[in-house]
Amino acid sequence: MRVVSGIQPTGKPHLGNYLGAIRNYVAFQDQAEASGGQSLYFLADLHAISVAHDPAALAANTREMVATLVACGLDPARSILFNQAQVPQHTELQWLLSGSARMGWLNRMTQWKDKAGKNREGASVALFTYPVLQAADVLLYQATHVPVGDDQKQHLELARDIAQKFNNDFASEAAPVFTLPDPIIPPQAARIMSLRDGAAKMSKSDPSDMSRINLTDDADTIMTKIKKAKTDPEPLPSEAKGLEGRAEAANLVGIYAVLAGTTEAQVLRRFGGQGFGAFKPALGELLIEKLAPINDRFNLLRQDVTALDTILREGAARARTLAVPTLEAAYAALGLVRG
Ligand code: TYM
Repeated sequence: MRVVSGIQPTGKPHLGNYLGAIRNYVAFQDQAEASGGQSLYFLADLHAISVAHDPAALAANTREMVATLVACGLDPARSILFNQAQVPQHTELQWLLSGSARMGWLNRMTQWKDKAGKNREGASVALFTYPVLQAADVLLYQATHVPVGDDQKQHLELARDIAQKFNNDFASEAAPVFTLPDPIIPPQAARIMSLRDGAAKMSKSDPSDMSRINLTDDADTIMTKIKKAKTDPEPLPSEAKGLEGRAEAANLVGIYAVLAGTTEAQVLRRFGGQGFGAFKPALGELLIEKLAPINDRFNLLRQDVTALDTILREGAARARTLAVPTLEAAYAALGLVRG
């Protein structure tokens, strides 16, 4: 079992990142270890330069993100934690895969369409080729399992398509160069929505901080954001089908259920018939209870920049060792002479 996943160190990590992805990174850290495999989690700092960014903020966010991952339960002694910029094999493999990726495949990526918007001519080349780097990120390590939220499913399907085409064109069926990775999408919380708009996903790039719960928010901020979350005037239904067409209510009930380790039906059995005046404080309290320990650990860890840099440097050295054989196999398969 080889588990690989990445997170962009842009902005602050939020509840969507935690419930949709980071929580599962921690679960897969255990599973990989139990199976005698290895988990690797990285900060996708090279992906972050595909849109306008502030270099000083990127460096600060990179360290904050590694502190967050450790605060959430990733252990650098058990998982390999690193940032892409210290493992040049990612960008090397991206170029080698660029010969197999098709323009049409990239043109269909919804994230490219969303982020480029109407201004495709003005978008960076990196934003367009971003999914090829993402494919390299996982194929480089022969990933078998890639825990991600729902919004990354399409990118992982593309990674499989690229791997399959490369294997078909340049390797034999008996000795493929790349393993086809499986995206692992959680059954609950795969898409946490904005607190201001039940039709938009919770996102680091939303200009309104009220739209998300950051993992670094303190208790008062969490409660304020939940109390101000957009809802409708109806009381909560007693059954899950009553949430249909009520995106904001469904989102809050979903968050409660996953944090409490239960189902939406159970939550509604308890809160059905009650208004948000009763439900929101209960949700706020639950969030505070679950996030406070993470917050405390984060506040300690973030202060020791040297320790954070050591985690990344040592993780990168281990990642490079694992990356080299696959990269060399890709060069060889393509007929590129290396000394
Ligand atoms: P990023 O940084 O946007 O998000 C990191 C992880 O959090 C998940 N996520 C969510 N899950 C549920 N609800 C939400 N509102 C929500 N928002 C984000 C994402 O699905 C993701 O799992 N391109 C990737 C980073 C990346 C990567 C990779 C991931 C680069 N290379 C290779 C996996 C494998 C990204 O921008 O994620």
